[in-house]
Amino acid sequence: MRVLAFVLAVTATALAQSNLPPLPDGVFTASARIEIAAPLELVWDIVLDFGSYPDWNPFVRTATVTDVWGVPAAEQRAVEGAFANFIVEIPPLPLPVNASTPLNLLQTQFSRESIVAVDNTLHRAAWKQIMLPDSAVNATRWSAVSTLENGNTLYESAEPYNGLLAPLLQSLFGDGLQQAFEAQAEGLKLRAEAMAA
Ligand SMILES: *[C@@H]1O[C@H](CO)[C@@H](O)[C@H](O)[C@H]1NC(C)=O
Ligand SMILES: *[C@@H]1O[C@H](CO)[C@@H](O)[C@H](O)[C@H]1NC(C)=O
Repeated sequence: MRVLAFVLAVTATALAQSNLPPLPDGVFTASARIEIAAPLELVWDIVLDFGSYPDWNPFVRTATVTDVWGVPAAEQRAVEGAFANFIVEIPPLPLPVNASTPLNLLQTQFSRESIVAVDNTLHRAAWKQIMLPDSAVNATRWSAVSTLENGNTLYESAEPYNGLLAPLLQSLFGDGLQQAFEAQAEGLKLRAEAMAA
């Protein structure tokens, strides 16, 4: 009985584990979480290395770090206070993808983002869409990594969508965005586990 209780407690801990900050409720929320058999620092590095997104990411096909004027940064890595231009596929492309994988122009969208948080101690980062005013679409995507009991890495990402256009976004893109978050998590796992092998 003691053993069973212990096992249940550990399992509950793994299920409950989250390194995301408390997030507001959304009209809808796209989210994903996945266990990755690779070291935390490796996974964290891939999340922030926007320059390598074309090599593995089926959702955010390119993420160009820029200054406030849109001029690309010398180092294509997410840093707090920078901005980014995303070219995204909603729904996502089929996995696996690489830098030569062509866009599906029928489902390609553009997004301008502000990188509002990169915490290398807590291993959390966030970017916020700034193409539309908050009153129309208020959406910040948080991503976090943490180490599981078994030494593997938990990757999580969630984005609550609010604002006047959120119900419209939900009907047009709600399912595609959810698929995209899940596909990005799977792509990240493929990438990280290949690099860790
Ligand atoms: C890159 O992905 C495409 C499919 O998008 C595939 O046809 C091609 O073989 C891949 N290239 C490499 C080097 O894996
Ligand atoms: C946007 O959402 C944030 C919480 O994520 C909230 O603090 C802020 O007041 C919201 N802005 C508007 C205009 O609703």
